[in-house]
Amino acid sequence: MILQRSHTCGELRLADEGKTVILNGWVDAIRDHGGLIFVELRDRYGFTQTVIDPAKLAGVAELKPEYVAAVRGTVRARPAANRNAAKPTGEVEVVADQLEILNRSKVPPFEVIEELDTREELRLEYRYLDMRRRRVLHAMEFRSRLTQIVRRVFHEHRFIEVETPILMKTSPEGARDFIVPTRYRPGWVYALPQSPQLFKQTLMVSGIDRYFQVCKCFRDEDLRADRQPEFTQIDVEMSFARQADVFRVIEEVMTTVYREMLGIAVPAPFPRMTFAEAMRRFGSDKPDTRFALELFDLSDACAASEFKVFQGALAARGGAVRALRVPGGGTLSRKQIDQCEAVAKEYGAKGLPWVKIAGGAATGGIAKFISAKELAALRERGGAADGDLVIFGADHYDIASKALGQVRLHLARELGLIDPKRIDMLWITDFPLFEFNHDENRWQAMHHMFTAPREELPAKGEDLSHIHADLYDLVLNGNELGSGSIRIHRPEVQRQIFDLVGITPEEAEQKFGWFLRALDYGAPPHGGIALGLDRIVMIMLGLPSLRDVIAFPKTASGACPLTHSPSPAAPEQLRDVGLQVAPEKER
Ligand code: AMO
Ligand code: AMP
Repeated sequence: MILQRSHTCGELRLADEGKTVILNGWVDAIRDHGGLIFVELRDRYGFTQTVIDPAKLAGVAELKPEYVAAVRGTVRARPAANRNAAKPTGEVEVVADQLEILNRSKVPPFEVIEELDTREELRLEYRYLDMRRRRVLHAMEFRSRLTQIVRRVFHEHRFIEVETPILMKTSPEGARDFIVPTRYRPGWVYALPQSPQLFKQTLMVSGIDRYFQVCKCFRDEDLRADRQPEFTQIDVEMSFARQADVFRVIEEVMTTVYREMLGIAVPAPFPRMTFAEAMRRFGSDKPDTRFALELFDLSDACAASEFKVFQGALAARGGAVRALRVPGGGTLSRKQIDQCEAVAKEYGAKGLPWVKIAGGAATGGIAKFISAKELAALRERGGAADGDLVIFGADHYDIASKALGQVRLHLARELGLIDPKRIDMLWITDFPLFEFNHDENRWQAMHHMFTAPREELPAKGEDLSHIHADLYDLVLNGNELGSGSIRIHRPEVQRQIFDLVGITPEEAEQKFGWFLRALDYGAPPHGGIALGLDRIVMIMLGLPSLRDVIAFPKTASGACPLTHSPSPAAPEQLRDVGLQVAPEKER
């Protein structure tokens, strides 16, 4: 390369008129105006128009989009008619006196333009071309700056960033482990961390009383738009800390990030809501509170209902009749109501009974079953009035609530009730420690097994639903940004929890013996949280998928389209680590 850049492609302004400059960049566009050729050069910083006379610089004829070029020339003001106020460099152009082609490019599989309408898989296969687009670049830059701010705030509060191992023993967070076979011990495996949970707790035992880490986590789980098999956490743990201490630090991190990255003052402390209230009012443990539409309870009012679905729900243990009023929903079409029913069914409801209110009475749907007493309850409790739609959830309390909660979200989108400018940060607190797994017929930890119970633990086999914990989630506009808790620091309590969720002492010793031993040597009371960095960036940028904020993401089937991973293991790799692969039909 002879011509090394003196300026970037986003830098030149009218004030630079007359300067001799050198630009390096990619050819974004070529416009042939007969006598002169206008070549738009692009780099990370922007675009600059160069003007090349083919009679003087014959090489210009060779240029094609995405070629890498160096242009030397003089900055001049564009004629008034050609100024482009939309571009920062739009008032100037560079009249070339030298051109060097630094590299050629094949014809790209898609044009490098902002409004790209190409299959995502193809974009990811050629991610390096995709990333030449401003919006992808911007996400990468935004993420980098945000991470620096996060690190700064933690350092200001005397946190130490400690890197914990990637090759480790299992750290269960409810997903499957990715495992790594090893030549050191054929047939044995490491697990990749689902989170650094046990290491960070061990750091507390070490006396590192304020730990954080921006770290990769790996989970073999079903993927969705907000889940990647490998993702980044902002992981935090504090000794001698209570829930309020964790909240204060995280509030400072989040408000600082919003202020410095977007110039938005998010009020703190963030509002708090208990898990029970969130389920009761919104049918979700991560409620989107940017719009109203709250659920209400009708179980007692429906005790004598003539509707067999209500009767059935209320006869069952834990059954409830719940309702959601949709103001003005009387205008919803049958098709729209059917779509709501489909949503409810997707989340476990068996149907979606409804009525409309008109002329002071219930009409349509299950109106013929609605008694005067029930109608009065709809009015008094739900505020139902003429022109409204009321939909019902009749099932186990949790199922009825969650299904209505999802219909609530669906309707808010459908009816345009969400103000996209609002930023609703919310702490959800007081989660139950355990939840019952109906499929496996056993109790399991709601968050993870290292969370401290607030109440005395009952004997094994007894109901655990009333045991709560200082267990909390940070929710932003209906998205779970993070989860954490105050932990168990007494080894005997930890053993008891393992026992209650059905882990035998032998299994506990085999998997977590090393950690139980650490608790034996003066573990301080401690607690923490982990925030999903990818999710924070995605939401702050208003992007629909985590893939938009990860440089080289995986697809929904866990594949990397760029490198074509995963890929078959070579026979000698398998031999080295002592593995055999089952024939296809046995897998
Ligand atoms: P949890 O499992 O809730 O807690 O994870 C914390 C946060 O990490 C993000 N997250 C994900 N982001 C993208 N893709 C995924 N597959 C994914 N899974 C989780 C979410 C989530 O809120 N060790 C505990 C934390 C603690 O107790 O301190 C833990 O990992 O934003
Ligand atoms: P049907 O009595 O089958 O005409 O249903 C009347 C209404 O109740 C419809 O809106 C159904 O979606 C709803 N529904 C029917 N069965 C159930 C059920 N088991 N649980 C909840 N809703 C139901």
